[in-house]
Amino acid sequence: MSEVTAHRASILHCLRDPSDDKDPLASGSVEYFEDGLLMVADGYVDRLGPAEALLKELPSNVKVVEYGDKLIIPGLIDCHVHYPQIDIIASYGERLLDWLEKYAYPAERKFADPEHAKEVAEFFVQELLRNGTTTACVFATVHPQSVDAIFEAASKYGMRLIAGKVLMDKNCPEDLRDTPETGYEQSRQLIEKWHGRDRLSYAVTPRFAITSSEEQLRQAGRLLKEYPDVYLHTHLAENEEEVAQVARQFPWSRSYLDVYEHFELVRERSVFAHCIHMHDDDRKLMARKGAAMTFCPSSNLFLGSGLFDLQMGRQCGVRVSIGSDVGGGTSLSILRTLGDAYKVLQLKGQSLTPFGALYLATLGSARGLHLEDRIGSFRKEKEADFVVLDASREAITNRRWRETEDIVPRVFALLMLSDDHTVTDTFLKGKRTEDFGWERDSRLVD
Ligand code: GUN
Ligand code: ZN
Repeated sequence: MSEVTAHRASILHCLRDPSDDKDPLASGSVEYFEDGLLMVADGYVDRLGPAEALLKELPSNVKVVEYGDKLIIPGLIDCHVHYPQIDIIASYGERLLDWLEKYAYPAERKFADPEHAKEVAEFFVQELLRNGTTTACVFATVHPQSVDAIFEAASKYGMRLIAGKVLMDKNCPEDLRDTPETGYEQSRQLIEKWHGRDRLSYAVTPRFAITSSEEQLRQAGRLLKEYPDVYLHTHLAENEEEVAQVARQFPWSRSYLDVYEHFELVRERSVFAHCIHMHDDDRKLMARKGAAMTFCPSSNLFLGSGLFDLQMGRQCGVRVSIGSDVGGGTSLSILRTLGDAYKVLQLKGQSLTPFGALYLATLGSARGLHLEDRIGSFRKEKEADFVVLDASREAITNRRWRETEDIVPRVFALLMLSDDHTVTDTFLKGKRTEDFGWERDSRLVD
C-alpha cells in the first residue's frame, strides 16, 4: 500500500523555459492552479490539478493538508555555495583574490577539526531548509572530513546534495594544500564512500585554475574518466584579475575555459560558477558539452566581480542555473538571490521575466545539474521536493500581493521581495523537514 498525501494550495511550476513566451500560462510552459491539489505518493509526485476536480476522485483515506491561499512551488535549487564560508559572510572591503586570502582561507582552515565541520554542516543544512533550498551543489574544504560532515548532515534529512573535497595544491596557504596524488586518492575514497548513497552525489572540486597545478587538473580529469557520473564543480571567469592570472599561469591556453577543456573537465555535469568574463566561443563550447553556468548575482555584486550575461548564455544554448555563492554572496535565500539577479540584468539592459525567475531557481537549475528528470517541477514521478510560500508573513509583501489578483505581477513581486520569512514549510520527498527534529522559528535569534 502506498502512502498518499494531498496538499491543497495555489500551486505554480514551470514545465519548460518560459523566458521567451509572451504568455507562458497560455503556451503551457508554466502551469498554475489557483486552488490546486498536489498529490504525493511515497515521496514522488503522483498527480497535480485543480483541487475541486481531484478531491472528488480522492479515496477517503487520503489525508488532505490545507494551506489556504499560500503558494506551493518546487523546492529551490542552489547550484553554487560554500558551506565552510557561512561564518565569514558579509566580510568587508575586498575583491575576489584578496577576499580569499583575508577571509575565505582562514575560515576554511578551521575545518581541519571534524567537530567544527560537523557543527557548521548541521547549521548550514538547517539554514538551507529554512530558506526553502531542497537541492544544493556545495563546496567543502580541502579536508576530507569536511565532505563527510556535509554529506552526513544532508543525509539525515534525505536532502539532495552534491559536494566534494576542494583540490588545491598551489597559490594558497601551505596548510590548505593537498598534492595531485593525495587530492586524487582522497577524492576517490570519498566517491566510493558517498556517491550515489541516498540522494548524495560527489563533485570533483578543483577550487579554480589558479590553485591547481597542471598535474592536479590532470588527476581531476582522471577521476572523471574513472567515475563518469560524478560532477565537476569549479569557478570560471569570475573576476578580471583572476582571468589575467590564469592567462599568465597557463600561457599555452586560448582562454580560461580552455584550461579546463585541455584537462577534459568540460562535459555533462560540469558546473562552472560565475562565467562572467568570457567569449561566446567558450559559451558555445559549454553548450555543446552539456556543461552549466551558475549565475551568482549576490556574490558578483558584493565582490564587485561583474555583471553576468544571461542573454548571451541563453542564446548560446548553455544550461544556466543560479547560486548564492555564500560567503561571497550575502544570503542563502535563493528568493533574495533572484531579486539580485533581476537587478544585475537591469544593469545589463536585459530582463528576467517573472516566470523566467521561477524557472531559474527550479527547473532551469535542475537542468544545469542534469537532474530535470528528477526535480524542478511537479511532473508525475518526480521527487516531491516543494516549498510553501506565504505572502502575508511580511507587511509590505502582503499589501503588494493583495493589490492585484493577477498571478503574473503577484509572483514577480513575491519573488523580488521574498526571503526566508516567506517560506513556511519545506518538503523533501513529501516529508515536512521539521518533522526530522528541527524547529523553523526557534532558529530565529530574538
Ligand atoms: N574562486 C576561487 N575560490 C573562490 C571562492 O571561495 N569564492 C568565490 N566567490 N570565488 C572563488
Ligand atoms: Zn564560489
